[in-house]
Amino acid sequence: MLDRRDAMARPPAGGLGTAERRSVFGGPLVVRRYAPRPAAWPRDLRLRAALLTDIHAGMPLMPLERIAAIVDTVNALGADLVLLGGDYLSSMKLPYRRFAPEAWARELGRLAAPCGVFAVLGNHDHGRRPGPGLRPDDGRTVRAALEGAGIAVLENEAATLSVPDGEFRLLGLASQRVRKEKGRWIGADDLDGLIRGLDDDRPALLLAHEPDIFPRVPRRVALTLSGHTHGGQVRIADRALVVPSRYGARYAWGHCIEDGRHLLVSGGVGVSGWPIRFGIDPEIVMVDLGHSDED
Ligand SMILES: [Fe+2]
Repeated sequence: MLDRRDAMARPPAGGLGTAERRSVFGGPLVVRRYAPRPAAWPRDLRLRAALLTDIHAGMPLMPLERIAAIVDTVNALGADLVLLGGDYLSSMKLPYRRFAPEAWARELGRLAAPCGVFAVLGNHDHGRRPGPGLRPDDGRTVRAALEGAGIAVLENEAATLSVPDGEFRLLGLASQRVRKEKGRWIGADDLDGLIRGLDDDRPALLLAHEPDIFPRVPRRVALTLSGHTHGGQVRIADRALVVPSRYGARYAWGHCIEDGRHLLVSGGVGVSGWPIRFGIDPEIVMVDLGHSDED
């Protein structure tokens, strides 16, 4: 089941403005709103979360000024919680210019929400040069940059958060694609460990860069939030042509419900591989949980 509700992002003063036009490099930033009703989330626990993912910082397609404008837009949405879904680094099949990790992290460090700002890493944050003059590593440089900017990174770690209506758990999964061995992706993810740590009945959200984990996520987790796919990055007639997922287009984009379990996949804001983004506008996902039907 796929369900998407689109809304044009209202750019803040000095933000994206009207100069951003639709082209093969992407369209205007949109805010896509979802109000899922997972059985494992109490109706009286209201939470509004923003998901920003797949930034892929680098010139020419994701300059620091654009990241700054996206951050301003997220902050203007007034979410209780901001989630960063991974893939901060760029990786392009054509020449591009990297930034020092501290540069994009400084912009992300301006994100603010009452419950905080939490991040996971993506596959592009591992095994690639994280900045000019830096060697590829296992993601530690990206993690350090985020933490240096005051952002909590959850790599197979959980946080207990509270909103006025009560408490919930946020689980952050490490990337399922940190390196390739004999043609197979190897992950750093430990879903079983995260689930074992759910030792009470507080409702739980899972932030996982790649949506491929979803078939293994138990009903105990109310909602899984992912990115990674860019919705296919190129969509013709609302169909993704190529999706970096072992499930093809099944989890390419949007709201998916299977066996009463809920998944939201954001199309993200950036581009990787070939510098083309077509048929799917860059998006910030806003999720309203626990709001009554009258809201
Ligand atoms: Fe990714």
